[in-house]
Amino acid sequence: MARLRSDQPFIHPDCSIANSQFGEYVEIGAGTRVVNTVVGDYSYCDRTCDIANAQIGKFANIASFTRIGATDHPMEKASLHHFLYRSTDYWDDAEDDADWFQHRASRITRIGHDTWIGHAAIIKPEVTIGHGAVVASGAVVTKDVPPYTIVGGVTADPIRLRFPRGVADRMIALSWWDWDSLRLRAALPDFRALGAEGFLEKYE
Ligand SMILES: CC(C)(COP(=O)(O)OP(=O)(O)OC[C@H]1O[C@@H](n2cnc3c(N)ncnc32)[C@H](O)[C@@H]1OP(=O)(O)O)[C@@H](O)C(=O)NCCC(=O)NCCS
Repeated sequence: MARLRSDQPFIHPDCSIANSQFGEYVEIGAGTRVVNTVVGDYSYCDRTCDIANAQIGKFANIASFTRIGATDHPMEKASLHHFLYRSTDYWDDAEDDADWFQHRASRITRIGHDTWIGHAAIIKPEVTIGHGAVVASGAVVTKDVPPYTIVGGVTADPIRLRFPRGVADRMIALSWWDWDSLRLRAALPDFRALGAEGFLEKYE
């Protein structure tokens, strides 16, 4: 655990980070790899996550060993093997396949605000996890998840709604995730004490 800061993310020293941006109060857990990704304010991941080509909203809770934006191999070619595109690993006179890497990087996975991605879940490229949604531990998510919906399984299907649709819509309209740190701090007792509907009634 760490006292997190607005001016710089807390990235554990053994992480591997490339071409990524981090918002305020972000923590990236030990042994995690983050590539070509934007992580919104207050979002964090636990240990040993692998996150690529993702747009992660605010207040995302990402459990350990999750994989977001699990990349593909070229299934339609004569070989699946990465010598096709990581060619400089094998030959001095070959170039890496920039088009393939660009294609991969363009397939963005989107994780909404106030989401919970359970332990060891896998989320495919180009999938959108709606605001407030929950992905169960061990899920393989291949399709978009609507806001405030809990999904699980391989492949993931809805388990139940986190909130009824009307409450979910009101929570999205309230968008408390856009409040500043002082306003969040002032509302902290109500976040703790009130249920979702009580919170909405007080703040909308
Ligand atoms: C998805 C989850 C949030 C559901 O919590 P819950 O509502 O208390 O779940 P319940 O135990 O009441 O189960 C509800 C249903 O979902 C199923 N379910 C629960 N967890 C599941 C999972 N991981 N994968 C698939 N199905 C799951 C249950 O079998 C049950 O199905 P049924 O209605 O057909 O009997 C929870 O099981 C989970 O996966 N949490 C993530 C935990 C985690 O990863 N923690 C890491 C540290 S943050």
